[in-house]
Amino acid sequence: IGRNYLHFESISSTNDYAKEIAPSAADGTAIVAEEQTSGRGRMGRYWVSNKGQGIWMSIILKPNLSPNEAVKLTQVAAVAVIETIKEIADIRSGIKWPNDIVINSKKVCGILTEMNGEIDRVNFIVIGIGINVNVQNFPEDLCGKATSLSIETGKILDRKPLTASILNNFEKYYRVFLIDGFSSIRNLCKEYSLTLNKDVKVIINNNECIGRAVDIDDDGNLIVVFKNGEKKTIASGDVSVRGL
Ligand code: BTN
Repeated sequence: IGRNYLHFESISSTNDYAKEIAPSAADGTAIVAEEQTSGRGRMGRYWVSNKGQGIWMSIILKPNLSPNEAVKLTQVAAVAVIETIKEIADIRSGIKWPNDIVINSKKVCGILTEMNGEIDRVNFIVIGIGINVNVQNFPEDLCGKATSLSIETGKILDRKPLTASILNNFEKYYRVFLIDGFSSIRNLCKEYSLTLNKDVKVIINNNECIGRAVDIDDDGNLIVVFKNGEKKTIASGDVSVRGL
C-alpha cells in the first residue's frame, strides 16, 4: 500500500480523483493532496481541507471482495488511524461507530469509503481519510465539534511520518482482514469504540429510535437494544447513529 504514491499541491477531492483513475491504477495506490478545493464528507457534506493543515488522502484497493465485505474496510482504516495517533501524537482517540475518530468528544478524522462494482464483487474501493493535523481554527459551524492533533497536543506535527504510519498500519490490518476476515480486528474495534455501552439515537427510515449499543458483531455491525427490548443489527451505511 502506498508504493504507488501520487502527491498534489491542490486537487478538488482525492476521493474523486482516485475514483477517476482507479480502473487503470495499481492496487494500493495512495493519493495525497496538500489542499482540497471540494473535499467531501459523508452524506454529501463538505470537508474543510485547507492547505498543509491535514492529511487529505485516498487509497485505491482492488481486493476480491463483495461490497458488503468492503464497507468493513472503514473500520479497518479507523483502527489504523487510532494506532497512528497513539504512536505519533501520543494521544488516545476513539471510534464513533463506524467511521469518525474522536478525541475529547471532538472529531479529528473522518473516513469516506466509496466503491464501484457488482453485487458479488467490487471493481475497486477508495478509502478516503481526512485528518485534521495542524488546523488551528475551524469555521463557526464546526466549533465545538471538530479538533486537530495540533490543538490537542499543543504542537505542530510533521505530516510525513503520520502519513507513512497510517499507510503502514493500514497495510498491516488490511492484510489480516483479507486473510482472517473482520472477526480478526473486531476486538480492537470494540476496544477503541466510543459508541459501545452508550445510548444511541438510530434513525431508521426517518424514525428516531433510542437504544443502547451493546456489541459490535463479527461482521462489524452495531448491535442495539431498544427501549422496547427489541434487539437490532445495524449495518453501517444503513442508518445514522448518534450519541446522546
Ligand atoms: C466524513 O467524516 O464525513 C468523511 C470525511 C472524509 C474526508 C476525506 S479527505 C480525503 C478524501 N477526499 C475527500 O474528498 N474526502 C476524503
